[in-house]
Amino acid sequence: MNVETSTKIAIQKAKSSKISEVDFNNLPFGKITTDHMFVCDYNNGSWQQPQIVPYQNISLDPSAKIFHYGQSIFEGMKAYKDEDNKIWLFRPLENQKRINISAKRLAMPEFPEDYFMEGLKALLKVDSDWIPKTPGSSMYIRPFVLATGNGFHASPAEEYKFVIACAPSGAYFGGELKVLIEQNYSRSANGGVGFAKAGGNYAGQFYPTQLAIDKGYQQVIWTDDNTHEYIEEAGAMNVFVRIGDTLLTCPTSDRILDGITRKSVIDIANDEGIPLEVRKISVKELVEAANNGTLKEMFGAGTAAVVSPISGFGFQDKDYELPTIENSYAAHFKKRITDIQYNRAEDKFGWRYEVK
Ligand SMILES: Cc1ncc(COP(=O)(O)O)c(C=O)c1O
Repeated sequence: MNVETSTKIAIQKAKSSKISEVDFNNLPFGKITTDHMFVCDYNNGSWQQPQIVPYQNISLDPSAKIFHYGQSIFEGMKAYKDEDNKIWLFRPLENQKRINISAKRLAMPEFPEDYFMEGLKALLKVDSDWIPKTPGSSMYIRPFVLATGNGFHASPAEEYKFVIACAPSGAYFGGELKVLIEQNYSRSANGGVGFAKAGGNYAGQFYPTQLAIDKGYQQVIWTDDNTHEYIEEAGAMNVFVRIGDTLLTCPTSDRILDGITRKSVIDIANDEGIPLEVRKISVKELVEAANNGTLKEMFGAGTAAVVSPISGFGFQDKDYELPTIENSYAAHFKKRITDIQYNRAEDKFGWRYEVK
């Protein structure tokens, strides 16, 4: 194997590439991984030599704490290739900061900013041929940290592994998105870990989401755990509602992930003078607006799906359809954000970050 060392990162290249097996015109979301991955181990109280290695399995002791206590956090980001084959990231430092917010809450060591950014850039350069240029596609990037330290004792591990893996990906959702407003199960609770990207938050969503899928919905809209009267999030997305011409989204809290796409939608709305209210949104208000025709749009916002229009919602055994409208806010925000991401438009906010 060919071993080179850059300033900090040891790079070990794969002997051969899997890229010729990939159909870039039919990319699933997040299933096909690239040739390399970034890894950095934490032991004896510090992060060790960061490395790029051929993509491979991770071997762990059965008593590793990840298996028992779920100490695992992750991020989701994307890299984009423009017409000139330049590589771009979207607000990557927000992900870097957020993984450390998650780490702190899960009693895991924070990962240094320069290791994160240098590791990410080096990996994207090594696997740059994998970043798709087919329309609507991008390289999904999954940084994550897991507790590798051993012991059947319910306490934080002493050893961890930070990994970045990448998957060239097509669209996250295909077809319509009908959601069920959930009033029994909760995704998160006051004082809990809802604001962190902790693996367990997602494990806890799968069963209620499957029940919703069985009823013909694609996704659940979570309500607050206390009263179940206010809408909060949808799966891996923050939620926006348009009543009349006013755009509404609920404030973030310790139950809700502070989404980067959500923040970007808010900034664009403010920049363009779109009436915006960041406040609690009750299910009652939503149902009333659907009944009196003022509910014009609902959409989810998140890295994976960008902006996903919601076609209707179910609540207490009744379905409410949303109208199909021209010049929707959802389509507008999606275009503005993706034009910045793919370097097709001016970036007055300074969100684009070139990998070079
Ligand atoms: C629970 C949850 N809410 C919201 C989001 C959207 O966040 P972002 O826009 O930063 O991807 C995600 C995805 O990361 C998520 O997992």
